Amino acid sequence: MGKVVEIKHPLIEHKMSIIRNKLTDTKTFRENVNEIGSLVTYEITRDLLLKPIEIETPICKTICYTLAKEVVIVPILRAGLGMVDGIHNVIPTAKIGHVGLYRDEKTLLPQTYYVKFPDIIKEATVLVVDPMLATGGSAVAAISLVKQRGAKDIRFVGLVGCPEGIKALQDAHPDVDIYLATIDERLNEIGYIVPGLGDCGDRLFGTK
Ligand code: PRP
Ligand code: URA
Repeated sequence: MGKVVEIKHPLIEHKMSIIRNKLTDTKTFRENVNEIGSLVTYEITRDLLLKPIEIETPICKTICYTLAKEVVIVPILRAGLGMVDGIHNVIPTAKIGHVGLYRDEKTLLPQTYYVKFPDIIKEATVLVVDPMLATGGSAVAAISLVKQRGAKDIRFVGLVGCPEGIKALQDAHPDVDIYLATIDERLNEIGYIVPGLGDCGDRLFGTK
């Protein structure tokens, strides 16, 4: 079974208090989602493999270490886009794929409307990114699409999860590690995380 990591850090806690607050404006919300994206990347990438390379400093030749595998960031549209710049700032060599999904408001089931991945996804470490892991339906569907294109080394990266979403994701994809900034109490009767932060896509893009 993949691991479930709740990433604990004072700066993340501080920024979570800003994005949870319903009074936070769109610009501040977007900035903080991205900044938390950068901070969680440190933990998500802690065990990435390295390979030695010889370089020359101004003083002499030496052996240094670079990432052994490519990294592909796959945001789930729309809300996943909110974390991409933050992650990309810390891994600027990463390639970016996209999965477009929305939850049907009645059934809560994910509907796919866009898929585009770089070819290297088969050999890369793939970070599937969505701030919210609610029922888990969107993450499960996005990871299935990534696997259909041959990806094998996959991590899910989110900001707010809940036990229901974690269980659904583990049941469907037991090989995938799950990284979350926080694990909340539960889902409410209309599929929102409690206490959560509301509708992340709408808050990022000002659509409500
Ligand atoms: C939200 C969120 C996740 C999904 C999580 O997207 O960004 O993608 O819900 O819910 P789930 O775990 O129950 O699938 P939404 O469907 O609102 O689309 P949007 O990002 O375009 O707003
Ligand atoms: N999607 C969101 O944006 N927020 C939730 O709480 C659940 C799903």
